[in-house]
Amino acid sequence: MFTARSVARASARLAFPKPPVVRAAAPFQYRAMSATASRFKKSEVIKEAEVPVSVYTPDSKGVASANSDHFSIPVKNVPSSTAPVEHVEAEEDSISPLDEKVYQKMPPTMQKMSVMGKVIIVTGGARGLGNHMARACAEAGAKAIVLFDANQELGDEAAQELHEKSGLAVSFFKVDVRDGNAINAAVQSVVDLYGAPDVLVNSAGIADSNIKAETYDPAMFRRLIDINLTGSFLMSQAVGRAMMAAGKPGSIILVASMSGSIVNYPQEQSCYNASKAGVIQFGKSLAAEWAKYDIRVNCISPGYMDTALNRVPALDAQKKIWKSLTPQARLGAVDDLNGLCVFLASDASGFMTGSNVIIDGGYTLY
Ligand SMILES: NC(=O)c1ccc[n+]([C@@H]2O[C@H](COP(=O)([O-])OP(=O)(O)OC[C@H]3O[C@@H](n4cnc5c(N)ncnc54)[C@H](O)[C@@H]3O)[C@@H](O)[C@H]2O)c1
Repeated sequence: MFTARSVARASARLAFPKPPVVRAAAPFQYRAMSATASRFKKSEVIKEAEVPVSVYTPDSKGVASANSDHFSIPVKNVPSSTAPVEHVEAEEDSISPLDEKVYQKMPPTMQKMSVMGKVIIVTGGARGLGNHMARACAEAGAKAIVLFDANQELGDEAAQELHEKSGLAVSFFKVDVRDGNAINAAVQSVVDLYGAPDVLVNSAGIADSNIKAETYDPAMFRRLIDINLTGSFLMSQAVGRAMMAAGKPGSIILVASMSGSIVNYPQEQSCYNASKAGVIQFGKSLAAEWAKYDIRVNCISPGYMDTALNRVPALDAQKKIWKSLTPQARLGAVDDLNGLCVFLASDASGFMTGSNVIIDGGYTLY
């Protein structure tokens, strides 16, 4: 939530970074594996001069036989850095899909965190966040990736590139997420090609920004709701029906936004915010209805991300404000949703449904 106090605090943090308070460390006699809390009053912060460490290597087999397994490390009073760390976008020249042989050797926890053998549909997969989540699913073991997007040229290019770089089966369907009939035909075609989908990642969406509610064109308002909210419904309905018909458990991931939970500053964007709040509540409702079919529904709610959606000169000044209000002092990278997407698609999140996970560099903390 945005308050005058939070702005003041955020700008103070940026303009006058305070030097960290350095306190003398409490005296401490080293004793291996000692519990230290009892030596201090409850209210005192425990400040160690040395930190005891116990290291169990595969050779030591957990038995404290050799002295070298226990040692201590000195604690230096190093001022924490106030400089923001520049995020470097990952190089993605090649995509290495998880190989069946490697998968068989992975421990059970890691196997569950993969999407081995799954058929995954990604809408808005031609570019941006959707495209990068599709790549991540390809790396994490998907059997086939299917991109749905309204942009023919970008979609074709993206599918060809993903196939060439990964060697996986990749298809592109030119589908507008507002077009129920086209969606149903495309999903049926996916079933015929690869079998019923296991996962839907619904990332297709648009944003209108800097439009005051009092002058918002109702036709534009309806269009945005139709793409962001009705599109989420039509896609979920078609894919959900295919999962039910095949008796297959599934995972539906709806890309909402932190704007579904907070009001952005300084731009006016009531329609976008309302559409994403609708997506979150729709996702929760669907999760409750479809748990009986073993279909899970969760939302990913990104903060400000550095994608084409935001790479417009008109937003340059606002981006400075957004960064200043984000504890991590940056916009999200285009691949910053990848890990969460794979986790929600995987069986590792099997008990998770109806959740809305905000991933925003801390923006919504203020
Ligand atoms: N970029 C951000 O800062 C940000 C923040 C929060 C949430 N989001 C959400 O993440 C999702 C992806 O955003 P992005 O930044 O990757 O955007 P993007 O514009 O880079 O990609 C969106 C994709 O969706 C496709 N698309 C648009 N309308 C469509 C339609 N009617 N039918 C089918 N495809 C359509 C576009 O062709 C494009 O390929 C959106 O839902 C957006 O609201 C983005």
